[in-house]
Amino acid sequence: MNSCMVGLSGRRSKVYSLSLGQKLVRLRVMESGLDYHTARALLEWQIELGATDAIVDTPIDRYALPDKAAKAKKAVVAEPPKKPEQIDAAAVAQRAAKASGSLPELRASLEAYDLCELKRGARQLVFADGTPGARVMIIGEAPGRDEDREGKPFVGRAGQLLDRMLAAIDLDRTQNVYITNVLPWRPPQNRDPKPEEIGMMKPFLERHVALAKPDVLVVMGNISCQAVLGKRGITRLRGRWDQALDLPVIPMFHPAYLLRQPQMKRQAWADLLELKARLEAGA
Ligand code: URA
Repeated sequence: MNSCMVGLSGRRSKVYSLSLGQKLVRLRVMESGLDYHTARALLEWQIELGATDAIVDTPIDRYALPDKAAKAKKAVVAEPPKKPEQIDAAAVAQRAAKASGSLPELRASLEAYDLCELKRGARQLVFADGTPGARVMIIGEAPGRDEDREGKPFVGRAGQLLDRMLAAIDLDRTQNVYITNVLPWRPPQNRDPKPEEIGMMKPFLERHVALAKPDVLVVMGNISCQAVLGKRGITRLRGRWDQALDLPVIPMFHPAYLLRQPQMKRQAWADLLELKARLEAGA
């Protein structure tokens, strides 16, 4: 509705208080002989035309009036500060992993994922090495110092031993093996990954396996067994086929353990032969 002024001022005036609907209007009427009822009828008519303000005897400086909005703001009781939103890191990882439609996209999703503390201490992401689409996918634990430096899994001493083990059964990362880790960032001082770190990053690992499409998984060491199979006890589990992520899974000793306990290489050799036999049988 347009607002307009009701001109009812005059030199000599009388004030009437009128009740119009829910409003009490104070009406100053110049001494012009208008009676109460005529003045009221006149006012009602002007209000019907859209008048919202009256012209009064003394000017009103509306800029000097207190700002209604500011007043309303002041009246609002300050709300207590909101608690920082609890972020479900695993749910964020799940969404990011699911949205990744290829290995390069998954790598980009990991690069963009900021909710794992390990990322802050690591030099770079260690995503994978070898041949995507190979029949054998190896899952290690987490990058060490050399891997952190080079950005590739299993490139240090343990990695060199792994390459020799694979070569013994005609496997080679440059041709027919794909390699990744449970965690893509180096834990500080090579400490064991925490269960919450493994849980947070697991959606990425699962997606990694789904996109790489191997025929079999090799899980190396207890951390990988725990992450993929939900079990620990590598000495008992090694060399025995299990099932996870819709794939056959064989646990093996971690090459770093074999470097410390070379007498266990005999058992590792048996496990490699078991893997070879499965591949030859069509997996
Ligand atoms: N140990 C692992 O489990 N992964 C690596 O990449 C290196 C050492």
